[in-house]
Amino acid sequence: MTTPRPETLAKLTPVLTKRWLSPDAWRIGTYEQLDGYAALRKALKAHPDDLIQLIKDSGLRGRGGAGFPTGLKWGFIPQGDGKPHYLVVNADEGEPGTCKDLPLMTHDPHALVEGVIIASYAIRANRAYIYIRGEAVHAARRLRNAVQEAYDKGYLGRNILRSGYDLELVVHSGAGAYICGEETALLDSLEGFRGQPRLRPPFPATHGLYASPTVVNNVGTIASVPPIVLGGADWWKSMGTEKSSGPMIYSLSGRIANPGQYECSMGVTLRELLELAGGMQPGHNLRFWTPGGSSTPLLAAEHLDVPLDFEGVAAAGSILGTTATQIFSDQDCPVYATYRWLEFYHHESCGKCTPCREGNYWMVRVYRRILAGQGTHEDLDTLLDTCDNILGRSFCGLGDGATSSVTSSLKYFKQDYLDYIEGRTAPKLSEKTLVGAH
Ligand SMILES: Cc1cc2nc3c(=O)[nH]c(=O)nc-3n(C[C@H](O)[C@H](O)[C@H](O)COP(=O)(O)O)c2cc1C
Ligand code: SF4
Repeated sequence: MTTPRPETLAKLTPVLTKRWLSPDAWRIGTYEQLDGYAALRKALKAHPDDLIQLIKDSGLRGRGGAGFPTGLKWGFIPQGDGKPHYLVVNADEGEPGTCKDLPLMTHDPHALVEGVIIASYAIRANRAYIYIRGEAVHAARRLRNAVQEAYDKGYLGRNILRSGYDLELVVHSGAGAYICGEETALLDSLEGFRGQPRLRPPFPATHGLYASPTVVNNVGTIASVPPIVLGGADWWKSMGTEKSSGPMIYSLSGRIANPGQYECSMGVTLRELLELAGGMQPGHNLRFWTPGGSSTPLLAAEHLDVPLDFEGVAAAGSILGTTATQIFSDQDCPVYATYRWLEFYHHESCGKCTPCREGNYWMVRVYRRILAGQGTHEDLDTLLDTCDNILGRSFCGLGDGATSSVTSSLKYFKQDYLDYIEGRTAPKLSEKTLVGAH
């Protein structure tokens, strides 16, 4: 294990994670001692439009994967329209490898609750929802407890802190489906329907929950709001890069000495993150990695110094996504890893559109054939052709994301595929997996 140098340790910028190790961090008493609800008091004295402007000025971009500017999204909510407005927090966190929102809600749930109240006040919503993944029982308990504590202290409910502002906050557990993280499928699920994406336009900003103006934001996005209110836009922008401001929680997993969450200014590199995480496990050398979860194209060892911000990762041919960096070594097989991810996307495809529903079904079968030692050179063309028919032709981002590891692994690691096809690598799957595969 390597010990990080002081200059690399200085890359850590604990803002959202700063309370996680405090004793009983999830209790309101601890939270209040550590700046908790001070931002809310300040925000309630400001005009809602000024808060939207502050978030615009900070350059905060959504932490749910797409990096959409948060202040701009809030500004799309029509005002004076006479309709109820809603804030919906996306706490589904289903992207493989992603592990930032659940630890945040488990260790510091009040950071999210306070962010919800400020954001709701800014967009003039009197009802907010946190849609949390059904399997996240522990985090949901902590969150529900925090919401109750906030009600008891007068931070939620009627006439919050005697400001005249009312807000009801509901924590809703989903049934556990990756597609329910897609914001419009999430809204359908919250309304009690089967979670499937909606046709856009109209967008949630005008026709969201119950056909009313709605902001959907990720947990990390909303939890960033109280520190911005307290610290100001310039302080927030002093971290990160010009177009990707602020700190970000990078969740590192895989063949590294110390997997976990590392909060750093955006633009940190994987080389620096690896140093913070104690380096690779003994006997392992970096071979490939995802910069932002399994929906983002794989990168290779040559990308160690790519700045991990929205622009830097895009320039390297991938996507920052959820900053879930999954690290694989020379002892891992990119063909097999891609197959496992495809099994996931095939399983989670909601079936609404043909390219994703059928394409993933067939690609899984092609991978099984290759991994069972029965693949052909033509199979590689079939994979690329199938991806071509899914990417940009699917109804939502799940289909697009499923193609990422296929095309990128073929780009960087074609030889691994050829080794299976030409018999140099022993089959990883038995022929039994091919039943019904042709
Ligand atoms: C298949 C799919 C799954 C998604 N899952 C999540 C998720 O679990 N959490 C999340 O915040 N965003 C997820 N998103 C992105 C959301 O649709 C949406 O962009 C995000 O919640 C907006 O919040 P932000 O602007 O704060 O990032 C997913 C998108 C797709 C296409
Ligand atoms: S891309 Fe996949 S998940 Fe999205 S709507 Fe189509 S079938 Fe459903």
